[in-house]
Amino acid sequence: MTEKATLTIEGRSYDFDVFIGSENEKSIDIKDLRSKTGYITMDPGYGSTGSCRSSITYIDGAKGILRYRGYPIEEIASKATFVETAYLILYGELPKPDEFKEFSTCLREHAPIHTNLEHHFSGFPKSAPPMAILSAMLNLISCFHPELLDIHSEGPEFDKTAALLLSKVQTIAALAYRNAVGKPFNHPNPHLSYCANFLHMMFSDPYQEYVAPPVVEKALNLFLVLHADHEQNCSTSTVRVVGSSRANLFSSVAAGVCALWGPLHGGANTAVINMLEDIKKSGRPLSYYIDKAKDKKDPYKLMGFGHRIYKNFDPRSIILKKQVHDVLQELNLKDSLLQIALELEEATLSDDYFISRNLYPNVDFYSGIFLRAIGIPLNMYTVMFAIGRMPGWISNWQELLEHKQRISRPRQIYTGSIERQYIPLEER
Ligand code: CMC
Repeated sequence: MTEKATLTIEGRSYDFDVFIGSENEKSIDIKDLRSKTGYITMDPGYGSTGSCRSSITYIDGAKGILRYRGYPIEEIASKATFVETAYLILYGELPKPDEFKEFSTCLREHAPIHTNLEHHFSGFPKSAPPMAILSAMLNLISCFHPELLDIHSEGPEFDKTAALLLSKVQTIAALAYRNAVGKPFNHPNPHLSYCANFLHMMFSDPYQEYVAPPVVEKALNLFLVLHADHEQNCSTSTVRVVGSSRANLFSSVAAGVCALWGPLHGGANTAVINMLEDIKKSGRPLSYYIDKAKDKKDPYKLMGFGHRIYKNFDPRSIILKKQVHDVLQELNLKDSLLQIALELEEATLSDDYFISRNLYPNVDFYSGIFLRAIGIPLNMYTVMFAIGRMPGWISNWQELLEHKQRISRPRQIYTGSIERQYIPLEER
């Protein structure tokens, strides 16, 4: 017998279907709630609202589990390349050797950007935030590919658009950086791996080719793999909302970049470093900042702590914390911010405020220190997150179309003035 949920309101009972996911996640299907009862649900921030069914990523926030297409993040992070991971997220299976080769070739072919598009970079001031450039340029690429504006969720046009975005996002990111530092652009090198090519475009100079040390290339790969998807987070939901109007993939992911920018989401990786720098410079004890974060009258928060879904350690943070030590050691570097971060984590783990609210370090807590170690500049951290998240955005956009999902259009409860009469200007 199919399970039902019963709602009793104003003396009448209504039955709603229950839908259970493959990992026993439970939901009540309320799409007919308003038409049956006249009521809507109220859930600002959507903490208890499922917006879709998805087979891409599974998270159990209570147990700290994250899986891409069924594969545990720990396994993917230690064994797979970002290109393999992107393929897995997009197509649902790990690529076979010939599929991997074809996909990698396709990414290489799409890495260069049109010369006319390159000229647009010089129009940005040097101080332009790279996230603004990235979002603008992702939209702008569509002008150079009108044939890809009206695509469906499958077929060669989709494959081409997906590869093009996965590849060009890193070229645009590197050019945005070169523009900001006033250095000549480096064209992509088709003989390099995805990560080595990005580092080359960022750091090579006309007379000195940058050759990424293996530890740096491996670390960048890990960072991107850990960010590849995270189910219905703020930016992915934004991509889905925009895509639900049947907007094209370019504009949908450009909107995703904007949503990611904020400090409560992807911008947190930059905010964490700013916070740790402030702590270091001020010389104040950590307890000062912890008390500030606990004070309800103070808007201050410990950046890199807390998560809507994880009520336990974020598994990505555990991996980054371990790897940041190894990377610093291999590069023979020391970072005083790491010591502050470790002490801050330690202090919160025995603090009732953080314990009772299940506030643990999230992915952004150690990722900034990790990116610093491999030489990525601070204003590029959230851009790095965007490069990593591209497979997840594309795949969620595709799934939305495949499922022929209705346009996203939440309702509201109006709390403004009731009807009143217009008073002419001179009589007011
Ligand atoms: N520092 C101090 N208190 C916090 C923090 C924090 N970082 N995060 C949450 N709280 C408190 C919050 O004030 C609330 O307390 P109370 O119950 O007394 O009102 C309680 O914990 C629950 O928090 P919430 O704001 O209801 O949680 P949320 O699910 O709406 O927000 C969050 C999640 C990630 C936006 C929030 O924890 C936060 O602002 N963290 C800092 C920013 C950050 O690190 N963001 C990166 C998120 S992970 C990467 C990604 O997906 O983007």
